Amino acid sequence: MKRIGVLTSGGDSPGMNAAIRAVVRCGIYHNMEVYGIKRGYEGLIEGDVERLYRRSVGDILQRGGTILKTARSAHFQTPEGMEQAYKTLKELKIEDLVVIGGNGSLTGAKIFSERYGIGVIGLPGTIDNDLSYTDYTIGFDTAINTVLDAITRIRDTSSAHDRTSVIEVMGRHCGDIALYSGITGGAECVLLPEIDSDIEEVYRKVAEGIGSGKLHNIIIKAEGVGIKTDELIAMLRERTDREVKLIVLSYLQRGGSPTFRDRMLATQCGMHAVDLIRNDIVNRAVGERDGHIVDFDIAEALEMTRGIDYDLYKGVDILSM
Ligand code: F6P
Repeated sequence: MKRIGVLTSGGDSPGMNAAIRAVVRCGIYHNMEVYGIKRGYEGLIEGDVERLYRRSVGDILQRGGTILKTARSAHFQTPEGMEQAYKTLKELKIEDLVVIGGNGSLTGAKIFSERYGIGVIGLPGTIDNDLSYTDYTIGFDTAINTVLDAITRIRDTSSAHDRTSVIEVMGRHCGDIALYSGITGGAECVLLPEIDSDIEEVYRKVAEGIGSGKLHNIIIKAEGVGIKTDELIAMLRERTDREVKLIVLSYLQRGGSPTFRDRMLATQCGMHAVDLIRNDIVNRAVGERDGHIVDFDIAEALEMTRGIDYDLYKGVDILSM
């Protein structure tokens, strides 16, 4: 009987539980023993592992967070840490590992497989949407909807007071949360880490909006943008006659019940991961391309680059005229 492990790593994202559920139930259906590893690679190093059964994953489909808990493990990046993680798997006779996480977590899985011959399958679990091999990551859709809900509420009150609102969203290296929520939330301006932002350009946009009778101005700024938030706020306060408010959405964006899209993506990715393993296909990264579930060699997947969607970026400017 094949033994497989599953872990969640890095920042949690809504839909991780749905992916765990799919891996566990599909694995058991195909006569595998499935083991859940706690707190990502940390639990692997410490041997914090438990066997999962069909009932272990009952009632979790709709929950945010991750029942396996998660961590960012610096220890796993050391040779000793990785060696210890390997020993845990060897002792338990676990041959293949499903890793649900973002860029750093999948990179860890890739290195682990190269060094120790462990079969790994990466599932894209992060709200950041920063894995280029997949159109969407698990959790991104829920996060965007949370941000959109916030924008809608902020818009009401900023219109009532004729205010300018700067909303800071997550995304250290990838501006997709800012871009997608900005265009669908009707923001005047989005600031993305991928594009050098010009503070004068922000001023021009806000001043133009005020001049043309706009009731409010909404600026969505990804956290990884070069311009410092306090400088931006100070500039707008000094040079426009509007009140300027800063709203940092922070961890609010990571919680909540996963949307239909995230549950579906997580479920399909989890099922696909087990299908690959039972066909002895490993070291793959699973994701979605053009509406279909796909898999790529994990090393190649992590090399892929996508860049920002410039049409959408330009669209924010055009549509907020
Ligand atoms: O999950 C990704 C992410 O949300 C980033 O956008 C953010 O910068 C980071 O995680 C913060 O997470 P933590 O503080 O939990 O490490």
